[in-house]
Amino acid sequence: MKAGNHNLEPNCDLVGGRVVDPSLKLDAIRTVVIRRGRIAALLDRAPAESDAACERVDCAGMVLCPGFIDPHVHLREPGDSHKETIASGLAAAAAGGFTAVAAMPNTRPALDTPERVTAFLRDARAAGGVRCYAIGAVTQGRNGCQLAPLLGMASAGAVAFSDDGATTTSLRALYNAARYAAAIPQAFLSHCHDPSFDDAVMHEGEVSDRLGLPGAPALAEAAVAAREVLVARATRKRWHICHVSTAMTVDVLRWARSIGVDVSAEVTPHHLLCTDEALEGFAAGMRVNPPLRPATDRDALKRAVAEGTITIFASDHAPHARHEKEGPVSCACPGFSGLETAVGATFAALPDVPLTAMVANFSAHPARLLGVPGGSLAPGAPADITGLFLNRPWVVDPSAFRSRGKVTPFAGWTFTVQPALTVVGGHVLMYAGAPHSRGVANTVRGMP
Ligand code: NCD
Ligand code: ZN
Repeated sequence: MKAGNHNLEPNCDLVGGRVVDPSLKLDAIRTVVIRRGRIAALLDRAPAESDAACERVDCAGMVLCPGFIDPHVHLREPGDSHKETIASGLAAAAAGGFTAVAAMPNTRPALDTPERVTAFLRDARAAGGVRCYAIGAVTQGRNGCQLAPLLGMASAGAVAFSDDGATTTSLRALYNAARYAAAIPQAFLSHCHDPSFDDAVMHEGEVSDRLGLPGAPALAEAAVAAREVLVARATRKRWHICHVSTAMTVDVLRWARSIGVDVSAEVTPHHLLCTDEALEGFAAGMRVNPPLRPATDRDALKRAVAEGTITIFASDHAPHARHEKEGPVSCACPGFSGLETAVGATFAALPDVPLTAMVANFSAHPARLLGVPGGSLAPGAPADITGLFLNRPWVVDPSAFRSRGKVTPFAGWTFTVQPALTVVGGHVLMYAGAPHSRGVANTVRGMP
């Protein structure tokens, strides 16, 4: 059984929400009856009252979905708790509408041994709230060439493997890793960036030429993605391409499918909404890996989601302290705080994608990638639920983030879709935008 951090088994009725569950082909007003932390029933009428031991939550005006799972976050512990702690990262996830996250192993030290995976999962359970899964490193210290003990990490609970932050440079190491892990289901999650472009601070193109900054072209990503597809084909291992940022990589994904290699892929909100023009004026805060690309790439990513070539949303929540995002572009740390804006930003980027596809890309598809529970509100499933207001404009205010990372490309932007409710194992962690703890009354009514 994979990590879950809840022992208590709460009872709760979510009343009046519109339940949208693609796995059940359901889109209707339902009362979600939660007993002992699991979905007990979806009733088409509300019970007149809920029993005393049961919290009754007014969900009128909300869409209720299978809990959103972010398969790509950086929680910075151990090693960089000034950027984020596991607790502050999980609080940010709850505020952002996520019921589970998977943490990348580029901590210090890296999550590259069973002992480190075990310690990380123990700390995440102690932090409580949102479910937190661990991704183990492919290579020791993420050095790109010496295999980490993959089977031991899998036994310790690692749900996938990745050297994220860098490409696994040695083809031989990657190939051997995939063969070594052939018998276990954990997928490989690839950050695709050719290391010969390691001096790049942004996308190579008109803007980088004008600024005189070293850049990485689309090819630096797509060529590695093509290599990963070939390794997946050679080893029959399950593969996933992280934060796809270019049209050329989308072409690689289409080619993979055409030759029968089932490689999944994720896209971030910033690659769907921002372009390399954000770095005009040497805006160090806008540095991120992979870099923001021109509008043609951004638009290709939107089409790739619309046509189902990219089926997973990920925030790539990569928080840094403010001073680490300032100064010369060449010195700024790459990455943004993403958990608290991901839902609003992703919906804003893709207004024409059907709601059911949006929900599946946030829930069932990442659950399948990671092999973790979720993606369905069928009776018996863990009661992990994300509630949304589909039409409640709100302005991004980074000073209000629960994350320690306050730098986002979306400061001051207005989004229309707002996370409204986060329920994990029947525990209401966030309600109508505020952290929620069970009060004296057993009834929660009315929106602020
Ligand atoms: C990530 C981080 O800060 O951990 N940064 C980022 O820009 N996405 C690592 C990485 O993927 O490079
Ligand atoms: Zn990455």
